[in-house]
Amino acid sequence: MVLQRFLKPQPISRCHQQFFRLKSTKSAPVVQAEMPKVEHDPPKYSGPSYEDVVKIRKDRLTPNIIAHFKKPLLIHHGKMQWLYDHSGRRYLDMFAGIVTVSVGHCHPKVNEALKKQLDTLWHTTNIYMHPKIHEYAERLTAKMPDGLKCVCFVNSGSEANDLAMLIARLYTGNYEILALRNAYHGMSPYTMGLTAHSTWRYPLPAVNSGIQHVMNPDPYLGIWGGAHCRDSPVQTTRSCSCDFECKAANEYYKQLRQAFEFSLPRGRVAGMFAESIQGVGGTVQFPKGYIKKAADLVRANGGLFISDEVQTGFGRTGEHFWGFQDHDIIPDIVTMAKGIGNGFPLAAVVTTQKIADCLGQALHFNTFGGNPMASAVGLAVLDVIEEEELQDNALEVGTYFLKGLAELRDRHEIIGDVRGKGLMIGVELVQSKDTKAPLSAPHVSQIWETCKDLGVLFGRGGINGNVLRIKPPMCVTKDDVTFALDVLDRSIAQNTKHD
Ligand SMILES: Cc1ncc(COP(=O)(O)O)c(C=O)c1O
Repeated sequence: MVLQRFLKPQPISRCHQQFFRLKSTKSAPVVQAEMPKVEHDPPKYSGPSYEDVVKIRKDRLTPNIIAHFKKPLLIHHGKMQWLYDHSGRRYLDMFAGIVTVSVGHCHPKVNEALKKQLDTLWHTTNIYMHPKIHEYAERLTAKMPDGLKCVCFVNSGSEANDLAMLIARLYTGNYEILALRNAYHGMSPYTMGLTAHSTWRYPLPAVNSGIQHVMNPDPYLGIWGGAHCRDSPVQTTRSCSCDFECKAANEYYKQLRQAFEFSLPRGRVAGMFAESIQGVGGTVQFPKGYIKKAADLVRANGGLFISDEVQTGFGRTGEHFWGFQDHDIIPDIVTMAKGIGNGFPLAAVVTTQKIADCLGQALHFNTFGGNPMASAVGLAVLDVIEEEELQDNALEVGTYFLKGLAELRDRHEIIGDVRGKGLMIGVELVQSKDTKAPLSAPHVSQIWETCKDLGVLFGRGGINGNVLRIKPPMCVTKDDVTFALDVLDRSIAQNTKHD
């Protein structure tokens, strides 16, 4: 009964409803695909009962929190790419705590670094010097291109983007900020305005202050797009008549220019934000060349270009350490969070010394940013990415995954698009390849839920919740991927027979 009430759709957003509105179906049991074996004995769960947790969650936590699945999972232990629920069941984690567990759950090296720091020094704030933040600032900025060497540590992606907005406005003296439709940049009052999904926006005046959203350059669903637009091993099935230059990139760029002509006061701008690949929006990649043109236009009109690397940083896209490198640009400001701390609250804003100087005109303070524990974790995460060559793994395993998914797309009418780079992957589920209309929420939920029952946890995203988001810890293997492909294949086949 409690669970029933807890699962009732929230009236506040379409997105919530998609997560919860699962029609009961009478599908036949499927044969379990074989899960890769692991040598790990998870500790036995000894916390409150499942029913108590559900009740506490309903009675004591705010109603905005999202729970995945008809019967939400109670996860109590994680080891690398694996999660264990209260009953001891093991799941392959293809969503990594929403693209956050970059190097693996409870990675031994990261755990060890944190434990060592716990016994050394927890916290001072930055009024005193402590070694870790300095060591970490050096190591992190060594990963950035020349010029981008000045870092401010904060605790979350929203905070990082808030600070980047503040810097852009202070430095340029302009107020207006541009972002792309379908973007997600956070949930603080400032960044909620940047986020361009109506589902994630509350109706408050402050949310829209000084922000304009421009047309999303989406080569699959957008007006323009073809078979060569994306920097991905998998292209859309659209045809393409471009010669040397991507026409889609040019057309979307013209739309951006119109914002300068028609909307921005005297055509001036403080900055433009873009994710290198849209995450929450459903792994949308932009036509090659668009971001570079956009950055040039913004700078020519007084603004700064801000790359939101919250999901795409730290090697996830495989070819480069940062997603903006795939676009061949050097941003003015880079924001990062999530994978930077493998699950520890840590985020950062990196910019040039010249730009950062604008912060000196008042006091600016963050109690926890770059605290000794966070910095110790950040250092260990960088070590692990390097020592275990996780960026290379993201490229190799991600490409294998993308190619396997493309085969599934060719076999299943309801897979409209497969896209992404490295281990930043999206699978768009549609009613038919012709219409590209989103697959109904209950149908997506059924497929997603069956995958979970077979042992694979995918994420979901896109404005209609019909994109499976695949962004696992970067230690995932080809065997894991083979298993995940098999599970997805079976789930679609089982749940789509009579369509
Ligand atoms: C691209 C992007 N930017 C910013 C954020 C906000 O990060 P946080 O939830 O840590 O505030 C997110 C969160 O999902 C994100 O995906």
